[in-house]
Amino acid sequence: MRIDILSAVPDLMQSFFAHSIIQRAQERNLVEIHLHNLHNYSKKKFKQIDDYPFGGGAGMVMAIEPILTCIESLQKERNYDEIIFMTPDGELLEQKMVNSISLKENIIILCGHYKGIDERLREHIITKEISIGSYVLSGGELPAAVLVDAVVRLIPGALNDETSALSDSFQDNLLAPPVYTRPSDFNGWKVPDVLLSGNDKLIEEWRYQQALERTKKRRPDLLEND
Ligand code: ADE
Repeated sequence: MRIDILSAVPDLMQSFFAHSIIQRAQERNLVEIHLHNLHNYSKKKFKQIDDYPFGGGAGMVMAIEPILTCIESLQKERNYDEIIFMTPDGELLEQKMVNSISLKENIIILCGHYKGIDERLREHIITKEISIGSYVLSGGELPAAVLVDAVVRLIPGALNDETSALSDSFQDNLLAPPVYTRPSDFNGWKVPDVLLSGNDKLIEEWRYQQALERTKKRRPDLLEND
């Protein structure tokens, strides 16, 4: 999978992608992540990428040209399955969407800034708009990092234990069950006996029941969906 991220401040994401599971996935050639600084695509003297909004009002708007020039230069090299814009008024990111994006070959992610991007880009170029939650951040960089993290961990081979992504919360519309590690008794705080029983079938049943109870209590909406 190849991910190209367009941003006014790509350095914000550099360190995040250079660590942990995402770093390992790149080293294993499971994913290529390329950061592009939109200022490098500006034809203006001071490399501006934003301009005043028509009709007046506060805040600046990201202009069409630098974004389109960058996207078109990438499209000359390969086809993209999706051109995603991170924006608070996009579709809410959920595990199902993450699963489907993880199956794509090449995607572009555009990080918004200022008051947003010129609407004509959204009409003609962007194929998917994603929000990571009902709150407004200063830019799309953190949301892009969230999306990439959620997607990359699903690529087979990115996690050491292949099955562990399948047992994540939200897969199957259930939250994950509780987990414990040694010691089995920490000053009287005990691990449930069933997990020490060695009986795989009982353990699996217990985990399912716990996941169900936890979901009913904390996120009943997940059970209503399907
Ligand atoms: N940009 C600013 N806030 C955002 C959000 N909540 N989701 C996606 N992109 C954003």
